[in-house]
Amino acid sequence: MAADGDIEFTLRRMRAADLAEVMAIERECFPNPWPENTFRGEIQNEGLSHPLVAVAPATGTIIGYVIYWLVQDEVQINNVAVHPDFRRRHVGEAMMNRILEDARAKGGMYAVLEVRLSNVAARDLYERKLGFVFLDIRAAYYTNPTEDALVLGLPL
Ligand SMILES: CC(C)(COP(=O)(O)OP(=O)(O)OC[C@H]1O[C@@H](n2cnc3c(N)ncnc32)[C@H](O)[C@@H]1OP(=O)(O)O)[C@@H](O)C(=O)NCCC(=O)NCCS
Repeated sequence: MAADGDIEFTLRRMRAADLAEVMAIERECFPNPWPENTFRGEIQNEGLSHPLVAVAPATGTIIGYVIYWLVQDEVQINNVAVHPDFRRRHVGEAMMNRILEDARAKGGMYAVLEVRLSNVAARDLYERKLGFVFLDIRAAYYTNPTEDALVLGLPL
């Protein structure tokens, strides 16, 4: 539910013209950012990939993004990020709720994602707020620094 301080945004499909803004956020968010070509591939992969940006209506600024694949009835969430200036205002949570609803409407039955063991913010969002549960651990899945990934899942 929206509360005071929450940010309004619209969610739309990512396009090539968004990449400068998206890459700036990606580089701030991750020690191993995806290369720009990976985002381009997601934009072009219209059958499988759903790359979405959250846009602040007043300014047109991109404040976050989510990329998921719908593979038959499985929703694979591959990237989630919120611009550091807009964090803790429920953008991440609202983006996730919207894409999970959208994916369910398209036939998604189960959502899965990977998260760094030490990523307290993302784990709290996924596990405590959204109800994702532990499925598996992938040892040394991440580099820079090397760390295990938790695989989390949520029936839709
Ligand atoms: C994880 C991330 C997307 C959360 O986005 P956000 O918009 O700041 O999160 P929200 O404001 O929607 O927070 C929702 C809930 O997540 C949890 N949460 C978010 N940030 C947190 C933090 N820094 N510490 C602890 N819990 C946090 C809280 O439960 C929060 O609910 P509350 O504010 O009502 O207590 C954001 O921190 C981010 O972009 N991190 C860097 C990229 C990343 O790690 N992506 C995930 C990869 S798996």
